Amino acid sequence: MDVDYWNRLAVGFSESVFEVTERDARGVIRKTARRLGDKRATAADFGCGAGASTRAVAPFFKRVTGVDFSAKLLAVARAKTDADNVRYRKADLAAMDPRLFRCDVAFCFNVLLSPETSARAAIAANVIGAIRRGGAGVFIAPSLESELRSYQVALACRTGAGFARGVAAREMDASARRDVVSLSQGVVNLGGAPTKHFFQDEIAELLTECGLHDVAVSRVRYPWDVVLDDAPDDMPYAEPWDWIAIGRKG
Ligand SMILES: C[S@@+](CC[C@H](N)C(=O)[O-])C[C@H]1O[C@@H](n2cnc3c(N)ncnc32)[C@H](O)[C@@H]1O
Repeated sequence: MDVDYWNRLAVGFSESVFEVTERDARGVIRKTARRLGDKRATAADFGCGAGASTRAVAPFFKRVTGVDFSAKLLAVARAKTDADNVRYRKADLAAMDPRLFRCDVAFCFNVLLSPETSARAAIAANVIGAIRRGGAGVFIAPSLESELRSYQVALACRTGAGFARGVAAREMDASARRDVVSLSQGVVNLGGAPTKHFFQDEIAELLTECGLHDVAVSRVRYPWDVVLDDAPDDMPYAEPWDWIAIGRKG
């Protein structure tokens, strides 16, 4: 998932890439931005992509800077953004000088996706490094628990539709074997790209090691059709989720 990978996705990004702010079933992201926001405060959206997350948080701050290393995605973000308190800047989060992007609140949604531990840690440390003392960091990341749970729910849907349990279970196990690149490292193929998924404790630990304290982790739920193609409208199961981890900079 280098810069070329993201540049290639720029055309039709909102259709082909999951933008969590657009599918946040319970409005958790906007509620969080409202709670942390202040018209005197500045925010930055690190790994802003096509700017959906930047535009979602912008109404709650004096100024928001969207930062990404993909020039093509930044061009899409600029074209889609009307708000005059938003600006976009190009930088590699793993190599940037955090002092250039000082902010009171840092948002970083679905960017810690690399299978490489050191690449994720470099980004997390730089994003947290940009936050002023007393400020907050808000990270969203894929949940390994949610990913595993979706196989169980798919199995329940199949048996509910009349498939023999043994047959459906073998189908789900085969699907999991195709998707899961490394269970011990939480790496799962998403759209062909090996993508880091976190246990709840794990995302809290990473952010704490990188300088946030009092990290609280909860869920951003999204509709079942994001993960199951044939999900019925009346699914009786709690929706899948990403983690939203919020902590303070001391
Ligand atoms: C899945 S998209 C998320 C976009 C946006 N935050 C959202 O939630 O809609 C991941 C974004 O992170 C950016 N990104 C990944 N690694 C980066 C890095 N090292 N430096 C800057 N941006 C990076 C990609 O270019 C892409 O725009």
